[in-house]
Amino acid sequence: MTDVPVRRLGALAVSAQGLGCMGMSHAYGASDDTDSIATVRRALDLGVTLLDTADFYGAGHNEELVGRAVVGRRDEVVLATKFGFANRLGEPTRIRGDAAYVRQACDASLRRLGVDHIDLYYQHRVDPAVPIEETVGAMAELVRAGKVRHLGLSEAGAATVRRAHVVHPIAALQSEWSLWTRGLEAEIVPLCRESGIGLVPFSPLGRGFLTGRYRSVDGLAENDIRRGQPRFADGNLERNLAIVARLDELAAARGVTAGQLALAWLHHRGGDHDDVVPIPGTRRQRYLEENLAALAVALSPEELATIEAAAPPEAIAGSRYDATSLTFVDD
Ligand SMILES: NC(=O)c1ccc[n+]([C@@H]2O[C@H](COP(=O)([O-])OP(=O)(O)OC[C@H]3O[C@@H](n4cnc5c(N)ncnc54)[C@H](OP(=O)(O)O)[C@@H]3O)[C@@H](O)[C@H]2O)c1
Repeated sequence: MTDVPVRRLGALAVSAQGLGCMGMSHAYGASDDTDSIATVRRALDLGVTLLDTADFYGAGHNEELVGRAVVGRRDEVVLATKFGFANRLGEPTRIRGDAAYVRQACDASLRRLGVDHIDLYYQHRVDPAVPIEETVGAMAELVRAGKVRHLGLSEAGAATVRRAHVVHPIAALQSEWSLWTRGLEAEIVPLCRESGIGLVPFSPLGRGFLTGRYRSVDGLAENDIRRGQPRFADGNLERNLAIVARLDELAAARGVTAGQLALAWLHHRGGDHDDVVPIPGTRRQRYLEENLAALAVALSPEELATIEAAAPPEAIAGSRYDATSLTFVDD
C-alpha cells in the first residue's frame, strides 16, 4: 500500500484517484483479461480503492472482469458501476431510467460483479422520457434494500442534479472533465461543491490524447471509438496536436510526462475542497503507476495559469462527442 490520499464523494471516502476499467472490455480495441486483472490488482496494491465500471462496457464483460479481479479483496474496494444504456455498443442508443429497469439493471450488475452490494451506483445517462424523481426514487429504494450504498449521476445537467439531490443525496457526479473539456466549470462544479457532491472526471487524459501517445488514428483498432470522435478527425487532430506539443514542453520542463501534467492540473481543480477524483483508464500497470505519480506533482498558481494558457478552450478543435452522442448528454 502506498499513501494515496483520501478524498470524499459526498459521504463516501475514496482514494484521490480511481481506476477507469472501461478500456479493459470496450471502446479502445482488443485487450487481454489476464493483463487487465493484474492491472486492477496492482492498483489495489498501490492504494487505489475506487474502481469504475458499467454494465454497458463490453455488454457486461467489464463488470464480470472487475468482479473476478476483486475476489478475496472486496473490502478494499469502492466498486462503482452504472446503468442506463439499454443497447449494446454499435446499436442505436436507447437510454432507460424507468423504475422497473433500474431494479432489473442493478440485480444484473450484482450478479455479474459477484457481490452483494454496489458502493456507488450511477445513472449513466439521464433518460429524458422519465422524470429524474422516478429514476432516483428507484435508486434510493436500492439503497434501502442494501443493494447499493451511494448514488451518482453521469453527464447530468444542473437542473437534473438539483432535482435528484432532493430525492436522495447524490454522492458523485461523473462527467467528462480534462484540460480539453471544461464545460463543467462554469455551473456544475460550483453547484456540486455547494451541495456536497463529489466530482469524478472521466476521460481525464482526453481518451489518451493528452498524453501525446496518439499522433494519428492509423494505429487504432478498426472498432476503436476514437476513430469516430471529432477531435481525432483529420484537420482537428493536427490542431489538437499543437496543444499537446505545448503541454509536452511544459511537462518536460517539470520533469514529468504530459499525461501527469494533465492529471495534476485536474487534481489542483479540487483545491482544498478535496472533492475531485479523476479516474484515468488504462489496461497497463506501467501507465497505472505513471498516472498515480501525478498525485505528487505540485503546481504553483503560475504553472496552473501557464498550463491553461497552453490549452485554451477556444483552441480545441472539434466537439468531444459526435452529434448523435451529444444528444444523450443532459444540459
Ligand atoms: N460516464 C461516462 O459516460 C464515461 C465515459 C467514458 C469513460 N468513462 C470512465 O472513465 C474512465 C477513463 O476514461 P477513458 O478511458 O475514456 O479515457 P482516459 O482515461 O482519458 O484515457 C484512456 C486512454 O489513455 C491511455 N493511457 C492511460 N494512461 C496513459 C499513459 N500514462 N500514457 C499513455 N497512454 C495512457 C489508455 O491506454 P491503455 O488502455 O492502452 O493503457 C487509454 O487508451 C473509463 O475507464 C471509464 O471507467 C465514463
